[in-house]
Amino acid sequence: MTELSRSPVPLLDLRAQYAALRDEIRLALDEVLETQKFILGPQLAELEQEIARRCGVRFGVGVASGTDALALTLRALGIGQGHEVIVPAFSFIATASAVVLAGARPVFADIEPLYFTLDPASVEARVTPKTRAIIAVHLYGHPAPIEMLQEIARHHHLFLIEDSAQALGATWRGRPTGSFGIAGCLSFYPTKNLGAYGDGGMVVTDSEELARRLRILRNHGQTEKYVSTELGWNSRLDELQAAVLRVKLRHLDGWTLRRQAVAARYTELLAPLEPVRVPRIAPLATHVFHQYTIRIASRDAIAERLAEQGIGTAVHYPVPLHLQPVFAHFEGRRGDCPEAERAAAEVLSLPIYPELTEAQIACVASAVADAVSAVRA
Ligand SMILES: Cc1ncc(COP(=O)(O)O)c(C=O)c1O
Repeated sequence: MTELSRSPVPLLDLRAQYAALRDEIRLALDEVLETQKFILGPQLAELEQEIARRCGVRFGVGVASGTDALALTLRALGIGQGHEVIVPAFSFIATASAVVLAGARPVFADIEPLYFTLDPASVEARVTPKTRAIIAVHLYGHPAPIEMLQEIARHHHLFLIEDSAQALGATWRGRPTGSFGIAGCLSFYPTKNLGAYGDGGMVVTDSEELARRLRILRNHGQTEKYVSTELGWNSRLDELQAAVLRVKLRHLDGWTLRRQAVAARYTELLAPLEPVRVPRIAPLATHVFHQYTIRIASRDAIAERLAEQGIGTAVHYPVPLHLQPVFAHFEGRRGDCPEAERAAAEVLSLPIYPELTEAQIACVASAVADAVSAVRA
């Protein structure tokens, strides 16, 4: 390798994005600071409409995080004690902890190995009389098989909720994710494709009643000022975050195209490497590549070699949800969700962000090739 190709590539570098947006962001923040209105103001109202429109639905309700978006949606739908909610066994912890926070029981279904998203057959097998909802996760930015899940939900009279935390902009048959279920739950955690400068989230929905319920629940259960008709939360997306997100939203389409181009280039370079399995895109899907995640045996040894070369990687996620210590009381066993367990042992996310250069992409790919040969030797 040349000296140049050995320069470190971090898993994610948000500083380049900020450098490009600095003036726009500061202007937007200044505007909010001049008004001194920080909670439930015009920036949020505008952002809610902009995001809802982008997701092809009528309503957006800004909340404090993606976790709250999920938990509040469940609560608003009347899901809690005594109810079961089917979730994929392979996701970020919050998909399942939101169910527990709402008072219900998560039931873990297996995934399809090609796309890391819910396996409809596994979902169907886990429906019981207590089931009230399915949470489909569009993991890494790739849509879950949403029409089949819609069909299962319809057949069993269940709510379908989309965990779109990683998938703003992804589509299925040309239709935006987040618009298929009763609700789409978004996260604006800073590393997401649309990231705030702190925590944030939103529920998008076409249901006026659900939107109304969420607006009450996020604001202490108040139906009018200082009158609470039910127990609510303090979970609002503040004006400074909304202003940042509105600036960034103007750039999201361009960033997504660039992520897709970076992914395509990685795939071109990595697909010929025999033990590496590159991410696949389902025929009806568009993938927004929140993560570019390969599968590889000897994953940990490969990651170690890459770290030595200054290449940042991450494992999303090393422990399947049914085996998480916090959920031990649900009595998940190794073998319950074999595909999720295999994925947890094999996945490795490589650096991906819009500002990644051709040279950096080539450097990562050649470091992966070197690591593969070294580990094989
Ligand atoms: C799939 C998934 N669900 C839920 C969440 C929770 O979002 P937040 O961190 O905004 O609470 C995240 C991200 O962190 C996520 O990746």
